[in-house]
Amino acid sequence: MIRVRLASIVLAAAAVGTLLAGCERPPIDNVQVGFRGVAMEQNYNPRLMAAVIEANQPPAPLEPASADGPKASAVYQNVKVLGDLSVGQFARSMVAMSNWVAPKEGPEAGCVYCHNPANFADDSKYTKVVARRMVQMTQNINVNWKQHVAATGVTCYTCHRGQPVPANVWFDPAPLKHDVTGLLGDRALQNSPAASVKLASLPYDPFGPYLAGDKPIRVQGDTALPTGNRASTKQTEFTYSLMVHMSDSLGVNCTYCHNSRSWQDWEQSPPQRATAWYGIRMARQLNNEYMTPLTGTFPANRLGPTGDVPKLNCATCHQGAYKPLFGAPMAKDHPELGGGGAALPKAAMPAAAAPAVSSGLAPATVFFAVGSAALTDEGSKVLVGLASSMKSSADAKVAISGFHSAAGSLAQNQELAKQRAFAVRDALKAAGIPEDRLVLEKPMQTEANVSGEDPRSRRVDVAVR
Ligand code: HEC
Ligand code: HEC
Ligand code: HEC
Ligand code: HEC
Repeated sequence: MIRVRLASIVLAAAAVGTLLAGCERPPIDNVQVGFRGVAMEQNYNPRLMAAVIEANQPPAPLEPASADGPKASAVYQNVKVLGDLSVGQFARSMVAMSNWVAPKEGPEAGCVYCHNPANFADDSKYTKVVARRMVQMTQNINVNWKQHVAATGVTCYTCHRGQPVPANVWFDPAPLKHDVTGLLGDRALQNSPAASVKLASLPYDPFGPYLAGDKPIRVQGDTALPTGNRASTKQTEFTYSLMVHMSDSLGVNCTYCHNSRSWQDWEQSPPQRATAWYGIRMARQLNNEYMTPLTGTFPANRLGPTGDVPKLNCATCHQGAYKPLFGAPMAKDHPELGGGGAALPKAAMPAAAAPAVSSGLAPATVFFAVGSAALTDEGSKVLVGLASSMKSSADAKVAISGFHSAAGSLAQNQELAKQRAFAVRDALKAAGIPEDRLVLEKPMQTEANVSGEDPRSRRVDVAVR
């Protein structure tokens, strides 16, 4: 009997060990990003972060080249995109592209990866033809997709990292042999653990439908009863696989873009969700207008199982970082790629704008000492933070209301509450916030409900309007 029990304990312990092997070992850093109590926080594993940071360091910029001298188009024979550069700038760009994309050793290293060394004007290597289109794609990203890439922008290095083929590309999956007569039925691309969805039993191709096609991503109904919403469990699971890919590519949790209180509500979502919305549209455009038309240019052995061209997704640029290369602005050193605000011709842009998200402004409270309307150091710090978030959300106004404790004379206390509100308003004005964004609002009741000296009632509340 005893032996049997021992065996089962050992088995149970082994089972727990196996279960936990899938978890990450502590410590985990936890950073709060939203209001308290709404679970808007990010968990980071410092050991895994160290590797991501190391993989996301930008290379040192090349010395700028002089804009003087003859133009490349006048000197060379077959320059179709970079012709306006001076010969010096053109050469700098070729060196940069070799560093970013070409193999570092072997017979294909350096210039010959794209060029026939006997004739640099020759377009016989597919890599040169692809590279020319890639220059245009990079310009398009930097000039037309500022809602996503901001002034940070991208260069070839953002995706390629010194490699001919970026670390993250995708193909359409090989067609499944549907076992419709068997027990499994149509698996709908599910239940086959795949890295694209972190080995979850979710549909493993979130890319084709959303980052090449434009299948609807929103699945939640906005009425209590199922009136018009036709989204099925299957569509919802597809949405989730895309969300898992997005979170994984950026190295963030779902709450980086959503308020877990209401997944679909845009007004409660942080600004990153709108950036992501543009990211989805950008990836779609790049795949459809730049990658897919290159299908005939790539050699057959570089195509996917269904003959499609390699395509990009969020991970192609982000590679585990919330901003590629943790926001290092490389593009500014390459105006020829549309960086640094270069005025290149604009292609057609999708007219739609992302739904309005939360301004990111949180309400604040400033506390005061007994009988005093002077800001404490702690209070001043809160207001510096508030002023800086007000500057990044251009229109939002705030309402400032003063309060006091119940001890002492009511008339004197009400004057004190008013002076406290003035002190907060003046500090925000001094920090550069225009007065028309600062509204003084006398609350219905300024006095605390608690009798005597209550530290929580000696305060000014700042609410977002
Ligand atoms: C990743 C591919 C790639 C690499 C690597 C590369 N080039 Fe180029 N090169 C191009 C493309 C694309 C063009 C055409 C640009 C255009 O049409 O505006 C070009 C054009 C040229 C031309 C103009 C030829 C003509 O007469 O039309 C010269 C010269 C040149 N490259 C030199 C170099 C040198 C030198 C190196 C190595 C330091 C190099 N390239 C590395 C892609 C590459
Ligand atoms: C947004 C990401 C992205 C950027 C930016 C980008 N590329 Fe690419 N590039 C790709 C993808 C995806 C492929 C397809 C990968 C493959 O060939 O399997 C590719 C393929 C290539 C290839 C063919 C590689 C091969 O051996 O088959 C060349 C050459 C190339 N890119 C050059 C460039 C140059 C030069 C730049 C900058 C002017 C650039 N790329 C910028 C994503 C990017
Ligand atoms: C990088 C930002 C980002 C991350 C991270 C993210 N989402 Fe999303 N999510 C979005 C965007 C943007 C949309 C809307 C897409 C659209 O309409 O094109 C969306 C839509 C959704 C929807 C559909 C809402 C509706 O209106 O029906 C759900 C559900 C959802 N996300 C859940 C999740 C879950 C669960 C996670 C974590 C696994 C997650 N999201 C991670 C940005 C994000
Ligand atoms: C062409 C490269 C590229 C691709 C593809 C790309 N991004 Fe980005 N993304 C960037 C760059 C560059 C930034 C930094 C912009 C900045 O500095 O504000 C950025 C920023 C973001 C941010 C804002 C982060 C923050 O904290 O402000 C989010 C969210 C984001 N990307 C989500 C996505 C999602 C989701 C996808 C895939 C649907 C995607 N990105 C695809 C280049 C890319």
